[in-house]
Amino acid sequence: QETDKGPYPYYMLKEIDEQPNVMRKLASLYTEESGKPNVDSQLINAMKEADRLYIVGAGTSYHAGLVGKKLFEKLAHVPTEVHIASEFAYDNPLLSKKPFFIFLSQSGETADSREVLVNVNANNYESLTITNVENSTLFREATYTMLLHAGPEISVASTKAYTAQIGVEAILAKALGEAKEQTIAEEFDIRQQLGLVATGMQAIIDEKDVIDDLAKKYFVPANRAFYIGRGIDQTVSLESALKLKEISYVQAEGFASGELKHGTIALIEEGTPVVGIITQKRTANLTRSNLQETESRGAATFTIVRKGLAEEDDTLIIPDVNELITPLLSVVPAQLIAYYTSLNKGLDVDRPRNLAKSVTVE
Ligand code: G6P
Repeated sequence: QETDKGPYPYYMLKEIDEQPNVMRKLASLYTEESGKPNVDSQLINAMKEADRLYIVGAGTSYHAGLVGKKLFEKLAHVPTEVHIASEFAYDNPLLSKKPFFIFLSQSGETADSREVLVNVNANNYESLTITNVENSTLFREATYTMLLHAGPEISVASTKAYTAQIGVEAILAKALGEAKEQTIAEEFDIRQQLGLVATGMQAIIDEKDVIDDLAKKYFVPANRAFYIGRGIDQTVSLESALKLKEISYVQAEGFASGELKHGTIALIEEGTPVVGIITQKRTANLTRSNLQETESRGAATFTIVRKGLAEEDDTLIIPDVNELITPLLSVVPAQLIAYYTSLNKGLDVDRPRNLAKSVTVE
């Protein structure tokens, strides 16, 4: 049964483990063997007419939206805003002339996101819901839908839904970019990349004992921790910190690495874990020197680095994939750090205190 834990102590580990297969599934369902995206052409036409995309989500889905912005702007050259659902609903941003809305929701039931969709529909705007649950409320009420095909996600802390959302956004951005004749989209082989991602995820998962040790030694005793990065790596730092907070109760912050020195670096103490996420050539050295700044103030520093940028002392080296989709790999060590920190603290990984899998109140 899909909802059995099988040999796993917790659903979260099972769901982390399922990610390579989810990537392969998305590639086979949403792309053709030639590499062309296989996406509803009406949806692509509707998106093509839009002058701006508005991505709406909560929690981890909001973080997947932050990655989506980079993908839609780079591959399809369309300005994209990302909004926290509960903020959008009551503090409406000024909309462009022809907006198109994308709702990201694992469950398809989040009340904060639904509140925005009700408004979008009342104003006759078109929308797409990307969700894991067929026939959920957000699925039913949007103009278009795409499913994540990740299988049931049971652990409260979201893992495979985040990577599936990014996978779907990448396919969609590629399809839209091609429809808009963007060379960068034409040259981006999403099918091949998702294959590389699947293999890369597996390689990281196979090394999970290293992460278990790291978690035991540095994260279990910590009462605060930081993930830092620039650009797309900064968005992953937010999700990485959220994972750690949710299930291990370590107060964690994801931060733009260059901004740390403007205030937050005051929080660094002897032994505070700081993880630098480094996957982008342009900013790798900058993040490295920001990490150095924290180390000279006592931080215990670690790196999650793309192989092509790796140096001798790096902690966790992740395989190379196109720089546009590195979050699919860089988040996996962070998911495992959170998992093992929680596990080694003897906490209930799947059912953290104060949280619910799906929040149907505003
Ligand atoms: C809850 C969950 C989070 C999730 C968020 C949005 O707060 O605990 O893990 O990211 O809702 O959920 P959704 O189903 O809309 O993606």
